[in-house]
Amino acid sequence: MRMEMFAMNPGSAQGAQSHASPCTYTLCPQWPYCEKRCSYCNFNKYIPRGVEEAAMRNCLVTEVRTLLRLSGVQRSVLGTVAGGLGEEDGCRACHRPLPVSSSPSSFPRVESVFFGGGTPSLASPHTVAAVLEAVAQIAHLPADSEVTLEANPTSSPASRLAEFGAAGVNRLSIGLQSLDDTELQLLGRTHSTSSALRTLAEARRLFPGRVSVDLMLGLPAQQVGPWLRQLQELLHHCDDHLSLYQLSLERGTALFAQVQRGVLPAPDPELAAEMYQEGRALLREAGFRQYEVSNFARNGALSTHNWTYWQCGQYLGIGPGAHGRFTLQGAGGHAREARIQTLEPDNWMKEVMLFGHGTRKRVPLGKLELLEEVLAMGLRTDVGLTHQHWQQFEPPLTLWDIFGANKEVKELLEQDLLLLDHRGLRCSWQGLAVLDSLLLTLLPRLQEAWHQTTPSPAPGG
Ligand SMILES: C[S@@+](CC[C@H](N)C(=O)[O-])C[C@H]1O[C@@H](n2cnc3c(N)ncnc32)[C@H](O)[C@@H]1O
Ligand code: SF4
Repeated sequence: MRMEMFAMNPGSAQGAQSHASPCTYTLCPQWPYCEKRCSYCNFNKYIPRGVEEAAMRNCLVTEVRTLLRLSGVQRSVLGTVAGGLGEEDGCRACHRPLPVSSSPSSFPRVESVFFGGGTPSLASPHTVAAVLEAVAQIAHLPADSEVTLEANPTSSPASRLAEFGAAGVNRLSIGLQSLDDTELQLLGRTHSTSSALRTLAEARRLFPGRVSVDLMLGLPAQQVGPWLRQLQELLHHCDDHLSLYQLSLERGTALFAQVQRGVLPAPDPELAAEMYQEGRALLREAGFRQYEVSNFARNGALSTHNWTYWQCGQYLGIGPGAHGRFTLQGAGGHAREARIQTLEPDNWMKEVMLFGHGTRKRVPLGKLELLEEVLAMGLRTDVGLTHQHWQQFEPPLTLWDIFGANKEVKELLEQDLLLLDHRGLRCSWQGLAVLDSLLLTLLPRLQEAWHQTTPSPAPGG
């Protein structure tokens, strides 16, 4: 079993079972700097001697403005409708006509902002405020939008967390990783268990019901029993959202080198699978809903940001190395694109100053690619793919057409790993833990059905 662990991070969306409409956006500004390299991490991060924060802030603001404009989410749609429908009528994001009675809540809007990294809790609250202000100036940013900040315990004293709150952050995702000091050292973290629990308590006081924690599993030499005791201990301290991430041993990291040299044992995938299964069962008993492969929430504290991501909504990655996916407006093109921003912060800043954005790569997504993504992402959630959601992407094929009569899919249904019914297609509790292996059957079936109904373009056409 292999678990896909890199969900974006968590939070609080009461209505997260609804569909992320093409008119809803999420923004992911990245702060690419860290104090120190953690031994397992291969994210795009830099350990600077000093940060030119004002320059970085200006560039983040500039790129927010540029990408919001390119995506068509800017407020001018509001102006058009408020003044009566004109030739530009319609949502610039999905090109659907806006009803005359449209209220601002039905216009394109930014429903969540997720400050990730790197270590965004090292950025100044002023920078966070400036980015949010830029969003609000250009787009519709409802007052109840989810604004999450990833916080490392070491850079998050209570006073600073309060300042982030004043800057507009209303949700925190804390990188706890472990409640064992030896493991924290192995991971190269700068915090101890006691300091992390202190940060968690302060965060909960300041952001009640809106604090998430990340806990890792499957570390070298980690055993099931002690890890489960950590999770049990965490249940005494945590809020309503939790992410479990299986260690992915990444080439180029210190941990990878240590395992290669035989200094540390390789992580055992069987033990990791057991931790995951036991952990999710424990969380279920404690009243958490596993709403996605790695994410758990109780009291309705699901993350809007995560949900938009898994529903293949529009998300704009801002900052060095950020990834985004959205439908570009203008130039006659309405295709969804994958965008990657320039990795290295100084180069990214130069490009932003020259061009207004630091997009390094743009890859238009074909219709089949998009449908593959909708399938693979949608099935990560407990709700799965509803018929309604699938139809939003307007394929000529229904889920029944694609999967209803297929022999291998029927076997998965009979093994109670998958469900296909009036609601749509989704994983069972057992199925969610082995999603990757289910996709090995489902994706080729989608491709086959697609090719059967879509004529190939004529040569040279
Ligand atoms: C991009 S990190 C940034 C968050 C923040 N800087 C921190 O360290 O807490 C987000 C989460 O990804 C997870 N993560 C990073 N590298 C990982 C790896 N190699 N395997 C599994 N999880 C990883 C960690 O749990 C981390 O909290
Ligand atoms: S603090 Fe977070 S982003 Fe930075 S190196 Fe550690 S895990 Fe990676």
